[in-house]
Amino acid sequence: MPFKHKDLLGIEDLGSEEINLILDTAETFRDINQRQIKKVPTLRGKTVINLFFEASTRTRTSFEIAAKRLSADAINISASTSSVVKGETLIDTALNLQAMAPDAIVIRHPSSGAPHQIAKVVNAAVINAGDGAHEHPTQALLDAWTIRQKKGRIAGLKVAIIGDVLHSRVARSNAHLLTKMGAHVVLAGPRTLLPLGLDKIIPPAAGTIGLAENVEAAIKDADVVMMLRIQMERQSGGFFPTLREYSIHFGLNRRRLEMAKDDVIVLHPGPINRGVEIDSDVVDGPYSLILDQVNNGVAVRMAVLYLLAGGD
Ligand code: CP
Repeated sequence: MPFKHKDLLGIEDLGSEEINLILDTAETFRDINQRQIKKVPTLRGKTVINLFFEASTRTRTSFEIAAKRLSADAINISASTSSVVKGETLIDTALNLQAMAPDAIVIRHPSSGAPHQIAKVVNAAVINAGDGAHEHPTQALLDAWTIRQKKGRIAGLKVAIIGDVLHSRVARSNAHLLTKMGAHVVLAGPRTLLPLGLDKIIPPAAGTIGLAENVEAAIKDADVVMMLRIQMERQSGGFFPTLREYSIHFGLNRRRLEMAKDDVIVLHPGPINRGVEIDSDVVDGPYSLILDQVNNGVAVRMAVLYLLAGGD
């Protein structure tokens, strides 16, 4: 089945078959990342531009590594060293990059919808690497692949997503993806950091999303616990009293994790704030797959670049 999209702007636009295609393609690239010579000629002659208007460690680096392992030329541009600081608009920036004939533009931007605006004016494939509080599709794909590797499936699993859901593009992309794939998603966190309009869903049902009474109810019998960072950069403050109280009421510690299934896995997109949303002994403990997520990010981004940038 071919991938029919020009761009990857969000999980909302994808069907479950397309999600499976990306994950299956990532599977074929997994071995390359374990070889001594981690390079194949698949995208030789192609050019990938990483255009980042926000800070990033994992996403930017893994897109660059993914492009280079596929033999594409990878160019990194950050807003602070581009002509954006001289007043050039986003669209003019995109048009000027397009004039240099890239095959893919990977963009992270603080405004929701920025990648969609660029996708309208360039011929290159546009990949959303995180737009405001909207979507972060490749993060959800690598999370799904991590779950699938460990659990063998996504359908029927209870996935608790806990923390600052309201401002989290990771939560939004994961909510789309996991429900499309038949998981039961349960959200928990401070009421002020949860979206309005969701009902409590009891009993759990596959392919649905609901709010839990509290963090304990979300974690109880969960197959997957996904913790979220508080997105201070997207808040004006006042959503909770102090970080210490947040940690006490909403943080993941060993005691709370014991309520989950015996074979629970713990995910976090990073960057983590140890001792705030998650305790260090959980981060470094036996149920944590946080660094596996980072490792999987390379193959998932290789798959996305391959499917969009015209690999043979
Ligand atoms: N998960 C994630 O997007 O991390 P970075 O901000 O470091 O890219």
